[in-house]
Formats: sequence, C-alpha cells, structure tokens
Amino acid sequence: MGPRSAASLPRGPGPRRPLLLAVLPLLLLLLLPPPPGSDAGAGRPPHLVFVLADDLGWNDVGFHGSEIHTPHLDALAAAGVLLDNYYTQPLCTPSRSQLLTGRYQIHTGLQHQIIWPCQPSCIPLDEKLLPQLLKEAGYATHMVGKWHLGMYRKECLPTRRGFDTYFGYLLGSEDYYSHERCTLINALNVTRCALDFRDDEEVATGYKNMYSTNVFTERATTLITNHPPEKPLFLYLALQSVHEPLQVPKEYLKPYDFIQDKNRHYYAGMVSLMDEAVGTVTTALKSRGLWNNTVFIFSTDNGGQTLAGGNNWPLRGRKWSLWEGGVRGVGFVAGPLLKRRGVKNRELIHISDWLPTLVKLAGGSTEGTKPLDGFDVWKTISEGSPSPRVELLHNIDPNFVDVSPYYWG
Ligand SMILES: *[C@@H]1O[C@H](CO)[C@@H](O)[C@H](O)[C@H]1NC(C)=O
Ligand SMILES: *[C@@H]1O[C@H](CO)[C@@H](O)[C@H](O)[C@H]1NC(C)=O
Repeated sequence: MGPRSAASLPRGPGPRRPLLLAVLPLLLLLLLPPPPGSDAGAGRPPHLVFVLADDLGWNDVGFHGSEIHTPHLDALAAAGVLLDNYYTQPLCTPSRSQLLTGRYQIHTGLQHQIIWPCQPSCIPLDEKLLPQLLKEAGYATHMVGKWHLGMYRKECLPTRRGFDTYFGYLLGSEDYYSHERCTLINALNVTRCALDFRDDEEVATGYKNMYSTNVFTERATTLITNHPPEKPLFLYLALQSVHEPLQVPKEYLKPYDFIQDKNRHYYAGMVSLMDEAVGTVTTALKSRGLWNNTVFIFSTDNGGQTLAGGNNWPLRGRKWSLWEGGVRGVGFVAGPLLKRRGVKNRELIHISDWLPTLVKLAGGSTEGTKPLDGFDVWKTISEGSPSPRVELLHNIDPNFVDVSPYYWG
C-alpha cells in the first residue's frame, strides 16, 4: 500500500487521550504483515514497462510457431503470462488512444482512421491520460518512440500529456534511417517530406542514418540506467518496429535467406532486431536492480499488415480489418510480481484495460478520468481469475469508409 492509504486509516482518539493510545493502531498496523493482494514486491509500487510493437502479426513470433526467431520474446512469454485472448483495435491511432485513455475511441472522435500528417486532430485535451495518472501516483514517466496521437498544437504533445520526457516521432510510417515522413499535400498535388524526430519538444537532427529501433533502445536503456530505483518508473517504449517501410541492417537478413518472399524476408530481419532490442531493455532492467519489482508488458498495436511482410496465420484478415487477424493481438506480461507464471491466459482482455490495471497497480486513482471502458484485469492476469470483461466494442463509425486496400496506415 502506498502512503496515500494513510488517509483512510481510522482516525486516532482526540487530543486529550494519551499519546500511546493515539499511535497504537498505527503501531499495530506496522507490525502486521501486508494483507494478501496488496502491492507485490517490496511494498513499493512496481516499475511499469510497456513495450508496444507496431503492426506485429500473430504468426510473427516464435511462441506462436513462426519461422521468425524471437528467443528473447519467447523466453519472457514462457516465464510470464501469455495473453491468448487479447484484443487491440485494428489500427494504430485508435489502439494507442485506448491504451492511454482507457476509453473506447467512440468517445474521443478517433474512431475513423489514423491521424494523418496534416490533420488538425489529437486526443481531446480534456482526456486524462495514463502517464498523468501515474505521475500523480508518484511515478517518473518516460516515453520513447511513436506517439501518433496528434501534434497540431503544442498542448497535444506527449510532454504536455503527462510524460516527463519524450524521445521519438509524432506521426507514423517514417523512414527508419532519415526519420522523415513524406505525405501528399492534396491541395497542392505535391509530396512533401519533413523530419519527424523529437527530443522532448525540440526537433532532433542528430540521428540521420541511425536505425530508429537502435536509437530508441539506447535511449530506453539510458533512462533505465539513470533511474533512481526507489522512485517508481513508467517507461512507455513504442517501437517503430515492425511497421513498413521494410528496412533493416543487412546482417539481419542473412538468417532468413531461405524466405523467398522479399517483403517477408525483410520483415523477418526487422522482427529479429526488435526481439534483440527487447532483450537489451530487460537486461538493463535487471542490471539496474529494477526487474524484481517490474511489471513488464509486451503488446502489438494491431494485427500484422500482410501487404508489408506480416502474417496472422491461422487468423483471417490483417491490420485495418475487423477479422481476428486485425484485432487479436500478440501480447504477454512478464516479471516476478505475477503470482502464476508460465501460463497461457485465455481470459478476454482488451487494450483499453491497461489504464485501470496499471493505475491500480501503481496505487493511484482513476477518479479524474471520464467514464472508463477498461477493466482492472490484474487478478485475471496474475492469478488466472475470470476476466471482469465479458464483451468489447470494436467500433461505431457511421462515416466508415473502407480504405484498407489502398492505405497501409
Ligand atoms: C530487489 O533488488 C534490490 C537490489 O538488488 C534489493 O535491494 C531489493 O530488496 C529487491 N526486492 C525484492 C522484492 O526482492
Ligand atoms: C498531380 O500531379 C501528377 C504528377 O506529379 C499528375 O500526374 C496528376 O495529374 C496531378 N493530379 C491533379 C489532380 O492535378
């Protein structure tokens, strides 16, 4: 229990009673072991590390039987809780908005598509986001990687929405090396490119020709290494991997020379590099002594894009679609705070559930939020109890236009 629970302790007797009587209940409480189900670990709120992969498909990880090798992810999933009935939204912006608001995107105006580069839109400013809630609970909050939740005014930026620091890109589909995003300006009928890479709110110019996943991994490990272990940490690492464009350093292609399909060949190398990155991050958490009080979550943002190397077999469909291949997500939770480990969890869990789950784990409060659609599913994940969720809403969009055959998002 965090210090905030002191507020709900029974009030001591009035000032005229002897001091000992006044402090006795408190002393007794200190002597008692913590009640079962209270914060795990050393009694401190756990460090929360959330790694979000981009467009990673069901059949793209070793633990689902893929031909792509993911030894680090496989080991973490095998020693943790594999989420087998876990759903995301079929698309980037909607998924990410639900992760950070705990609310279906029908409430936030983000139910149509992604936020396109020139679109003046972001998560409404009156939504309270996960990092804000964790900050209020005493956490250091860092974000590295892809935002894609709007940037048309400064108030929309991650550093104005609860993150102490931010390093990454604000849109989607960047070049992994130049960090530029190109887009067709319809009104002018010209394509323009711009550098989309930020360190906090400054444009970061010093990273040209450096592969984004490596740059992000380095920033994440630096944050971990410099983090004071006694302060709870929230690290949201939203990797560019393995979204198209299909780019990866050559040496990662070699192990997959047996793959005939060119897209899949590159994609496999990208997945391997991402797997290595996750291994580097967990190693850093262990070296820093944080791991034994860490809840580590790995999730994709939506299903694989089969037009760009992804594979969701045996699930039908792909990113952008409401078939299982579009919305049933790769995910697992790892770390020593889980009560049951090495299990496959078949309970229904949705990406909107992370906000209430993590805020509760943090000893925080969701009182400042608008009505949540997510559920606290920690007991479901950690102990295998039935999920409080019995259904989920994929979307309601009267303006729906299926552009999935034309756009890759
Ligand atoms: C975690 O590790 C640190 C440093 O090694 C140690 O001080 C702490 O007691 C450990 N906590 C738990 C819950 O084992
Ligand atoms: C846009 O430009 C391309 C060439 O860059 C041209 O082929 C096309 O006709 C133009 N479209 C319109 C609507 O002007």
